[in-house]
Amino acid sequence: MTDAAAYIERFGSLGRPRTCNPPVNNQKIALRRKLLRWYNTHRRQLPWRDSHDPYRICVSEVMLQQTRVQAVIPYYEKFLSLFPDVQTLAASEERALLACWSGLGYYSRARNLRKAAQQMVRDWGGQFPKDYAEALRLPGVGDYTARAVLSIAYGIPLAVLDGNVARVLSRLYARKEDFRSHAGKEKFLRLADSLLAPRRPGDFNQALMELGATVCLPAQPRCGECPLQRHCLAYAREEVDKYPPPRRTAKPRVRRFVAALVQDSAGRCLLVRRPRSAPWMGGFWELPMWEQDGPDPPPLEIHCIPKEAIVLGRLLGRLRHSITSNHLRINVHEGFLRGRALPPRARWVLPSRMDHLPVTTITRKAFRLRPASTIGRPTEVSI
Ligand code: ADE
Ligand code: SF4
Repeated sequence: MTDAAAYIERFGSLGRPRTCNPPVNNQKIALRRKLLRWYNTHRRQLPWRDSHDPYRICVSEVMLQQTRVQAVIPYYEKFLSLFPDVQTLAASEERALLACWSGLGYYSRARNLRKAAQQMVRDWGGQFPKDYAEALRLPGVGDYTARAVLSIAYGIPLAVLDGNVARVLSRLYARKEDFRSHAGKEKFLRLADSLLAPRRPGDFNQALMELGATVCLPAQPRCGECPLQRHCLAYAREEVDKYPPPRRTAKPRVRRFVAALVQDSAGRCLLVRRPRSAPWMGGFWELPMWEQDGPDPPPLEIHCIPKEAIVLGRLLGRLRHSITSNHLRINVHEGFLRGRALPPRARWVLPSRMDHLPVTTITRKAFRLRPASTIGRPTEVSI
C-alpha cells in the first residue's frame, strides 16, 4: 500500500475513513515521473517555493485561495516583511493587517489567518498542526488549504484539488463531473490521491497546479508542450475543448452606484465605515455611496448612508468594479455635507492617512479622481 493510500485509509480523502483504495498502476507511475521531471525544470520561481516553513506556506496558500499567483506575489512579500512569523501575526492589530491586505479581496481570509495564528501560538507552540483533522480546526483552513500546507510543508501524502487540478484531471481522464459538487469533488480527489507521488507529495501537488496554470490552460491549452500528452484521454479523442464542460454561472447583474467625494477646507476626505457584519468588506472605510434606482431602504446586504446627508456636485468620473457576479458602475461626484453633523459611522480622514486604514478598492480608485486643485492642499492637520 502506498503512503497516500495508508493515510487516506486512516483519514479518508475528505476526512472520513474509507475502505477501498484505487489501484496504482504503471500508467500512473509513468505519469507521475513525467510530471515531476517537467516540474523540476519548468516551474516558476515563486517566493513561497524557496521555503518549507509551514507559516510561509500557509500564508501563501491562504492568499492563493481566490487570487491569481501574479496578483499575490507583491502582497505576499509585503505581508511577510510586516508579519515575518506566526507570533508577530498573532500579536498584530487587525487594522494593520487589513491595511496590508487591502486590494487583495476576500478579507475574511486575513481575519481568519490572524485567528489561526493565535490558535497555533496558543495550542500548537506556534506550529501549523501536522494532523489533517487538527489542521481543519484552524479558522479559514478548509480541505484544500489543509492538504496544501501539510503536503508542501511536511511532505504528508495528501493530494490537493483546486480549479487548475480539476481541469487537468477532467481532461486527462475525460471526466465531466463538476468538481464543485460534492460527488464530483470526491471523484477528482480520489483520482488525485491515487496519482500522488508518495515521496514528493508537495511537489506533485504544485506540479499539477502549475501545469493547469501554465500549460493546460482553460482556453487553448498548449498540448504541444504538455508532458502528459500521451496520457491524456481528451487529447487522444481530440476533445480537449469539451473538458471540463462549461458550468452554469450566476447571471451577471449590473448595478449602478453614486459615490460622493466630500472634502473639507483642510483637504480631509469624508469616509464612512461599513458595518462589521456586512457580507462584503465588513469594517472597511469607503466614500459615502448608495445604489441608484435601488430599493429604498437598501437591502441589508449593501450598506448605504442616507442620501439626504449629502448634496451632490459635478461628476468627477466613472468607475467599474466587479464583485463576484455583480458588476458595479459607480459615478463619482463631488459632494458637500448637508449641515455640520457627521452622518453615523463617518469621519474625516487625511489623504496621507489612507494607507493606514482598511479602505475599499473602489474608494482607492475613486480617490484618484480628486480634482487637481484640491490635491496640493495642506494636509498636515491632525485628526
Ligand atoms: N495555487 C495555489 N497554491 C499554489 C502553489 N503552491 N503553486 C502554484 N499555484 C498555486
Ligand atoms: Fe491538458 Fe493538453 Fe496536456 Fe491534455 S494534453 S493535459 S489537455 S495540456
